[in-house]
Amino acid sequence: MKNLIYLSLFVILLPTMSFGGDKHQLEEHEEKHQQSSGVEALSHELRELLSQEMRALEGGMMSIIPAYISGNWDEIATIAGKIQNSYILKQQLTEEQIKELKSVLPLEFIAKDQNFHYLAGMLEHAAKNKKSELINFYFSEMSESCVSCHTAFATHKFPALAPKEKNEHVH
Ligand code: HEC
Repeated sequence: MKNLIYLSLFVILLPTMSFGGDKHQLEEHEEKHQQSSGVEALSHELRELLSQEMRALEGGMMSIIPAYISGNWDEIATIAGKIQNSYILKQQLTEEQIKELKSVLPLEFIAKDQNFHYLAGMLEHAAKNKKSELINFYFSEMSESCVSCHTAFATHKFPALAPKEKNEHVH
């Protein structure tokens, strides 16, 4: 089991690592978008879609708890599958909208999106294999991934996540 977890961690790190090669590109891209947080520059339509999706995500995450504590692995697999497929960059968007997303959102957002999407897939897989420990692991990785993206891109919605100066070591 331990080996499995190390292996999963490695797989999680892979997408982040492969990003290293694009660092220059990433920096250039980030410079272009320094003015806005990206998300706030999205068209009204796309932003509404993103909000809807976020609320659906929250609903999905919350409904995993009763399934988890009662050992309903099938239900978890279904929910995780839905989360994975409903996520915004995977949806059936028009070509225009995909272009807009790619040009407006920072690459880091897209990377976080992909990582989240990957974790949902892993949760589905763990649930299908009825691996309770791994289900727990990926569920917590997913929650962590919500917080990580909100800290970077949604502090206008969740001000408590905004980094506070001089506060890093306060417990
Ligand atoms: C890749 C980035 C990213 C990930 C991952 C992410 N979010 Fe979000 N979320 C956002 C952004 C950006 C906003 C703010 C959207 C806006 O202001 O229009 C947001 C807003 C929200 C909102 C408020 C929606 C509203 O407008 O009422 C909820 C609820 C939410 N997220 C839940 C979640 C949950 C639960 C997860 C994890 C399971 C998650 N999010 C993962 C980026 C992300």
